[in-house]
Amino acid sequence: MVTRALDVILLGPPGAGKGTQAKRIAAAFELLHISTGDLLRDEVAKDTSLGEEAKGYMNRGELVPDALVGKMLAKRLHSQQAALGCVYDGYPRTTAQAVLLDGLLSELNRRVDVVLYLGVPDADILARITGRRSCPTCGAVHHVVTLPPIAEGVCDRCGAALVQRNDDREGVVRERLRVYGEHTAPLLKYYNARRILREVDGAVAPDEVFRRLREAMGNVSA
Ligand code: AP5
Repeated sequence: MVTRALDVILLGPPGAGKGTQAKRIAAAFELLHISTGDLLRDEVAKDTSLGEEAKGYMNRGELVPDALVGKMLAKRLHSQQAALGCVYDGYPRTTAQAVLLDGLLSELNRRVDVVLYLGVPDADILARITGRRSCPTCGAVHHVVTLPPIAEGVCDRCGAALVQRNDDREGVVRERLRVYGEHTAPLLKYYNARRILREVDGAVAPDEVFRRLREAMGNVSA
């Protein structure tokens, strides 16, 4: 039996749980998890020229220019690991990025199959992001209240010291929310017009969000 690739976008405001759920979807459906935020943070940590260019935008809560992010995405999409499909977390964030993704997938005879929108109220988002602690080594994500590590400040998975992201301070989070409303929220209309948008309540417990996401993927993933 020939199975075709599956390409799934997770859309939603900062802190909606895209990363948390993208990891689960990627594992369940054997897809490549492409998080442009993680890729950019990796470039910053390695002190590359791309990282150097991206750092200022990220620390201010602004979007990194489309051209820089697009190059990173194209490289991942053309890799062998992407052959069975991908779950896109944090991409696209502008209409230009959505058009680029359509073009790249079309070159591979693929298309965006489903867009899962995670809705979460702004008040919840602030509490989630300011309490988030991330592992710089293995990428695990904890939360000081809702998902505390067993030993304070230490990653459950790999034992590294957890950190607070530079852009997880309240003032920057507010700017990220503003940028989301201006540049990314219009994508809901873009995908709704193609009838591939599914909305899932992201304000319930992670296991329940995952169950609902799988349900929303329904026959797309069959
Ligand atoms: P990025 O890393 O993509 O950040 P984001 O989209 O703002 O999303 P977050 O990572 O903050 O949140 P999330 O939705 O993944 O939530 P998470 O699962 O971690 O981007 C960072 C920056 O990079 C951007 O501002 C921009 O500068 C740049 N960038 C990235 N991509 C770009 C692009 N395409 N174009 C241009 N620039 C780009 O969960 C958050 C917290 O909540 C965690 O602590 C978690 O444990 C907790 N949590 C999760 N689910 C639940 C739940 N159901 N209930 C309670 N708590 C929960």
